[in-house]
Amino acid sequence: STVYRAGTLGRRPAVPTDFAELERRAKRASSAEAWAYVAGGAGEGRTMRHNREAFDRWAIVPRMATGAAGRDLSIELLGTRLPSPLLLAPVGAGALMGRDSDLAIAAGAAATGTPYIFSNQGCNPMEESAAAMGDTPRWFQLYWSKDERLVDSLIARAERIGAGALVVTLDTTVLGWRPQDLNLGSLPFAKGLGIAQYTSDPVFREIVAERAGLPRERPKVTLGAIRALLAMSRNHPGSFWDNLRSPIPRASVETFLDIYSNPSLTWEQLAGLKQRTNLPIVLKGILTSDDARRALEIGVDAIVVSNHGGRQVDNAIASLDALAEIRAALGPAPTLLFDSGIRSGADVFTALAVGADAVLLGRPHLYGFVLAGAHGVAEVISNVIAELDLTMALTGARTIAEITRDLVRERR
Ligand code: FNR
Repeated sequence: STVYRAGTLGRRPAVPTDFAELERRAKRASSAEAWAYVAGGAGEGRTMRHNREAFDRWAIVPRMATGAAGRDLSIELLGTRLPSPLLLAPVGAGALMGRDSDLAIAAGAAATGTPYIFSNQGCNPMEESAAAMGDTPRWFQLYWSKDERLVDSLIARAERIGAGALVVTLDTTVLGWRPQDLNLGSLPFAKGLGIAQYTSDPVFREIVAERAGLPRERPKVTLGAIRALLAMSRNHPGSFWDNLRSPIPRASVETFLDIYSNPSLTWEQLAGLKQRTNLPIVLKGILTSDDARRALEIGVDAIVVSNHGGRQVDNAIASLDALAEIRAALGPAPTLLFDSGIRSGADVFTALAVGADAVLLGRPHLYGFVLAGAHGVAEVISNVIAELDLTMALTGARTIAEITRDLVRERR
């Protein structure tokens, strides 16, 4: 009601309160490369469309005279009380849209008490992002590296920054077919964007040195080091001078590209994760009840039903359809998070009614960031939560638990 009252009293917000205008303005504020990467999807963009169409197929059923004057939006998630069922999704390479993206997004999230899931492909080391959040919960998202030493090192760092959960993203063992980026030749990682968790990692630096045959710590400019750099320049694109001058040595980028993800990852390996950390484990990118069951069998604490915002497989099943299926198959007990396609508070309401316990917001928060930094992120979050609150008032739901399946109907 604070947001609404401010608007009624004539105060203009820093970012538009509707997604369509937010998106238009964010596009104008972004470079072509940033927009291609952030707004783009896989292939023809059909999965992104399916995600939205699925929301259009579910209609909310308002209820009258319910007496729902005061509402409580807080939830308990993996043992922590949160002010609302909203978290910020992990997004890599956000610095395409502005410097120190992770720090600003972390601060914006913290201003509203909203947890932020730091991406493995983040643009600031997780320790710095954590420092920007004070006591607000932060989680860490892991891409399972080919190098198990790096997996352990990233987990140890996540534990040290007090992460509330370890989110393992399963749907990106290879990067999807992304024509917008490919056409511009502008995928960010090759330029060293989005690899801050790696370059700040001591184990990763050892791996880079190992592979280049360089001395381990603080390489001195020895004849051997120069020979190794020359050899690398012959074997990889970029000259000796590029390697010397680049703020992020090409060797780090090459190593990152080679080992950031492990396409041969199996459920057996995932089952071993519980022995490697005490953090709650969340698997992200599940789209079928079969996979959801396997996840629960190996004892994970929650799953995120997600198609990565339509960025991985073109013409994939809508994330919301998958959510309905999985909740119906598994019943009320498992903790299901949801993302892909949420654009408003009404969408959050729908996802909760269809079966989610909490939701992740992806692109909208980046659009808030590109328009108004940390403040823009906080406003986007506040707007979504405010609309959720109003929708609850108008459907008679006093708590998040009261957003039940009978408050939505599938349209014919
Ligand atoms: C992502 N997403 C993502 N997911 C993840 O697990 N690790 C990552 O590094 C990234 N990086 C990333 C970058 C950008 C620019 C976007 C837009 C998305 C996927 C993200 O966590 C989430 O699943 C989707 O963004 C949700 O869909 P919406 O809300 O964007 O439709």
